[in-house]
Parts: sequence; C-alpha cells; structure tokens
Amino acid sequence: MSIQPDILRQAFPILGRQVNNQPLVYLDNAATTHKPTAVIDRLRQYYESENSNIHRAAHLLSQQATEAHEQARSSVQSFINARQQHEVIFTRGTTEALNLVAFSFCKKFVRAGDEILISAMEHHSNIVPWQIACQEHQAVLKIIPMNEKGDLQMDEYRDMLGSKTRLVSVTHVSNALGTINPVKEIIDLAHQQNVPVLIDGAQAVPHMPVDVQDLDCDFYCFSGHKMYGPMGVGILYGKEEWLAKMPPYQSGGEMIKEVSFRKTTYNELPFKFEAGTPNVADILGMEAAIRFIRELGYAPVAEHENDLLQYAIENLKKLDNVRFIGTPAKRAGVVSFIFNDIHPYDTGTILDKMGIAVRTGHHCAQPIMDFYQVPGTVRISLAVYNTRQEIDVLINALKTVREMFG
Ligand code: ALA
Repeated sequence: MSIQPDILRQAFPILGRQVNNQPLVYLDNAATTHKPTAVIDRLRQYYESENSNIHRAAHLLSQQATEAHEQARSSVQSFINARQQHEVIFTRGTTEALNLVAFSFCKKFVRAGDEILISAMEHHSNIVPWQIACQEHQAVLKIIPMNEKGDLQMDEYRDMLGSKTRLVSVTHVSNALGTINPVKEIIDLAHQQNVPVLIDGAQAVPHMPVDVQDLDCDFYCFSGHKMYGPMGVGILYGKEEWLAKMPPYQSGGEMIKEVSFRKTTYNELPFKFEAGTPNVADILGMEAAIRFIRELGYAPVAEHENDLLQYAIENLKKLDNVRFIGTPAKRAGVVSFIFNDIHPYDTGTILDKMGIAVRTGHHCAQPIMDFYQVPGTVRISLAVYNTRQEIDVLINALKTVREMFG
C-alpha cells in the first residue's frame, strides 16, 4: 500500500506544532527524524512499568527487562538479517560504533605502514577515529576520491586496494550529498584482496532495506534516532570471526567473565563490547521504531521519498540560481544546494522564520565542502512523513528569500 502522509503524520505529535507562528515544515531528517507515538509510548511504558537493570538480579523486573533487551537484539538481528544474534552490539550510536571498530580492530590488526581506506565523502565520525587510530599505529589513511557529481571513483578505488590495506570504511549513503554508494561492489572488490569492509549505514537504514549477509559486509553500523527511534542508541553489526578476535573497547561491568586483582577475563560476545548499564529504554524504543518501519514496508517508503526527491529537485531547478552541490547517479533523501549565492546560513535563518527547518553549514563533512570550494550548503533531507505541499512551501519561501536579498 502506498504511503498516505496525511494519515501517517498523525502518528508524529511534533509535526502538529508551530514554529515562529507557522506550521512546522521539517526538512532536517538526516540530522534526526521525529518519533512516532509508538516509540514515545514504548519509552514511557518501560519507565512506568518495566524499569530495572538487566543481567544482574534475581528479581522479576530485572528478568523481564533482560528478556526484553535480548528480544530487542533479536529484532535487530532479523531487521538486518545478521547470521547470529551475538553479532549485534548495542552502542550509543553510529559514532560510538565507528570508534569501537577504529580502536579495537586497529589495536589487533593494524601495524606501522598498513593502510586504511575511507572515502572523500565521509562524515567526520568516519574520518577522525581513523586519523587517531592511524596516528596511534603509524598507519596510513588513504582517501578514495569522488568526482564532481559526488560519485566515488571506483577505478581509483580498485587501484588503491593492495597488500597493505587492512580495512575499508565507507558510508552507504552520504549525509551531505545523498549519494548511494555501490557498497556491494566496494565489498566484493575488497574481499578479493581479503580486506574487511565497514559500512556506515546511518543515512541508509531509514530509506532502504539492509541485509548484512547479502552485502557480506564485515561491519555495519547505524543510529536509532535517524530511523524514527530514540537518540543515544545505535547498532554495530560485526561478523563473529572479527568480533571474537578484537579486544574490548570499553571496560567495566557486564563485559567481564571473572575479575580478580590479579587477572580479569572477558565476557563472550556481544557482552564483551557492552560495558556498563545499557540504555535499555532507548533500545526498546529503537525496537519499536523497527516495528514501525517494517509495518510501513520499505517499498512504499522508497516510492514516496523518491517522488518527493524528484519533485524537490524539479522545483528547485525552476528557481534561477540554484547551484546543486552533488548530482550523484543514485541518491537517497538529500538535496544540498546554494541559493542565489546567498550564504547558506542566511538562507537557513530566513527559512526558519517561516517555520521551515533545514540544515545549513558543512554537515559534519568539511572535506566535502573543501572539495566543492563552498563554505557550506543548504540541505533538505526527507523522511516518510514529508509531503509535496511542504516542498511547495519551501519553494515559495526561497522566492521570498530571493526578494529579500534583491
Ligand atoms: N550526521 C547528522 C547530519 O548529517 C548530524 O546532520
């Protein structure tokens, strides 16, 4: 069944509010999505009637919370089709998942002179952890280039892979350009050289189904809050063969088997990577978000979002002086542009006065802005609850911006 946004929007209480005395038009979904009532209710229910720490006590509340927590892990496993439940690690979000792999994988497998490949379109969270790890281990960080359209240069990538490459880490969908990268091909090419691949799926999971076995990626990570779930929770999927060999990232309770002052042994997967009390409520909220997405179905979501994307691009093109930043061959949910040579911050500020939320600036991807030699962009990013009428409001507002700047 196709998406009926007017009905769907009723599930998102925040969409009914006004901003600067105007109905909210929220086009900043790559930063974070709003939460449906089902997710909000799940958090409330947990704290009202289930709250307890897990894996620690004999009492009923703790047992039930533990069961719910592990059931959520199983829901994630089935959502991304992981082979094993213990290949699903709960984290605070994509950033923590990336830091975990950068720290732990590199500590075990990276030595002086080795190479890590990332791409030219990465978010800072898939750049800085590798810079730190490469510095730590005297390894070399290499950048897979992209072309002017914002597509990766796959021939160059093929040539960069070699005997020194220890890991490839690339984004599935660019948060600043919307580019959908050919991740299956990226993974296949790396595997031909026995190189593992990590995929940052934060901007993909809200828009398209992800099957980690079909992709055959070695690691995949994403965040709850960009897929209609709560902030502060995310997933690292990793193949058992890697996770089992990697040392713990953080230490403390839960990640241990036995502790004495003489020696400590570590817990089995996935707990080895889950030190401390987990964010149980938000993990359950994320499970509710997964249910929400599954009930909608990815096919109708993609159909609706693609329609909005094409409609937005078409209508932006009709305005004079829109410079699109990135025109990738395959794109999901994001359009970045500069309007009339007006500084993106000024455009964003005036749009906000009209109730329209867009993100402006470098979108935590400064190397992309350097590549295009722009200070930043105006970025609209779409979710399943957006409508064509909202795009019309944006286009009319941009006409007002143009009038204000002469
Ligand atoms: N990564 C988020 C964005 O693209 C914050 O806006």
